[in-house]
Amino acid sequence: MTRTWFITGANRGLGRAFTVAALGAGDRVVATARDPRTMDDLTDERLTVLPLDVRDREGVFATVAAAFEKSGAIDVIVNNAGYGLVGALEELSEAQIRDQMDTNFYGALWVSQAATPYLRAQGSGHIVQISTVGAVGSLPLFSMYNASKWALEGFSASLADELRPFGIAVTMAQMGGFDTDWAKSSMKFAEALPAYQGLREGILGMPDYPDPLAPPPAVEADENAEWAEAAPEVGAAGLLELVNDPNPPLRKIIGPGAQQMVAMALDQRRLDYGKDPEFTWPA
Ligand SMILES: NC(=O)c1ccc[n+]([C@@H]2O[C@H](COP(=O)([O-])OP(=O)(O)OC[C@H]3O[C@@H](n4cnc5c(N)ncnc54)[C@H](OP(=O)(O)O)[C@@H]3O)[C@@H](O)[C@H]2O)c1
Repeated sequence: MTRTWFITGANRGLGRAFTVAALGAGDRVVATARDPRTMDDLTDERLTVLPLDVRDREGVFATVAAAFEKSGAIDVIVNNAGYGLVGALEELSEAQIRDQMDTNFYGALWVSQAATPYLRAQGSGHIVQISTVGAVGSLPLFSMYNASKWALEGFSASLADELRPFGIAVTMAQMGGFDTDWAKSSMKFAEALPAYQGLREGILGMPDYPDPLAPPPAVEADENAEWAEAAPEVGAAGLLELVNDPNPPLRKIIGPGAQQMVAMALDQRRLDYGKDPEFTWPA
């Protein structure tokens, strides 16, 4: 059966790989991108490209309406658009913090809200939130990225329970490391305070944040790393497997080594609670 997908941030990285994989599976895709011209190289009669900046709530509602009008029904909604903001909390500006939440959290929220009445009316559908293993654990200098994805997961878990009776599934796809522009040209940085130099060296391997006007630093892939970054196509294969599942899970870890990262984060949480003598696990 041919499905129809709606994907945000479809022009680069994982979003593009998802789009190509869905088309490759014989499905139809409504791909959205801030600049649709960046998708001109993808020509397929089953592909519709619409302009969308997910921070624009009115734009999201109009684009989702246009997508349902054109397609009749949409089977898979992929909230993929997002980026990483790096900086110690006190180094981040209000504008940077708001933009991180507007994109990673509110963007996915507006799309979910706009699509829900249509999915409810059709009595089917699968909303996939592109989350991260960083929504289970956390990393210093990534507080607002962590917060945006934890917030995404918070409303999505609740939404899953609200929509299950209508035959609609919600999954948080917790992605591991993928070789996209996420850790390169897309990443945004705070203004460095000297106090966090040691932390930057430990976490990022550099004393300062990169100059936003300089070309992105060449990052050498460490193929021996336990969880070396995988090609985006690997992530797309994982997503296809997920949407092919007739009973999709609420949480799906996708990416090599990502399971270990989630296990470590959960174990850390367990150890924390274990310090409380009143805290016991149910038998
Ligand atoms: N790569 C990883 O290791 C990794 C791991 C965990 C989770 N993720 C998540 O995966 C998703 C995709 O990231 P990626 O790795 O593919 O990074 P990427 O290569 O930098 O692609 C990011 C995409 O998001 C789009 N985007 C950013 N802000 C947007 C906005 N306001 N409106 C619409 N589109 C916007 C970008 O569009 P423009 O071209 O217009 O900027 C681009 O298409 C993100 O949510 C990210 O947090 C990635």
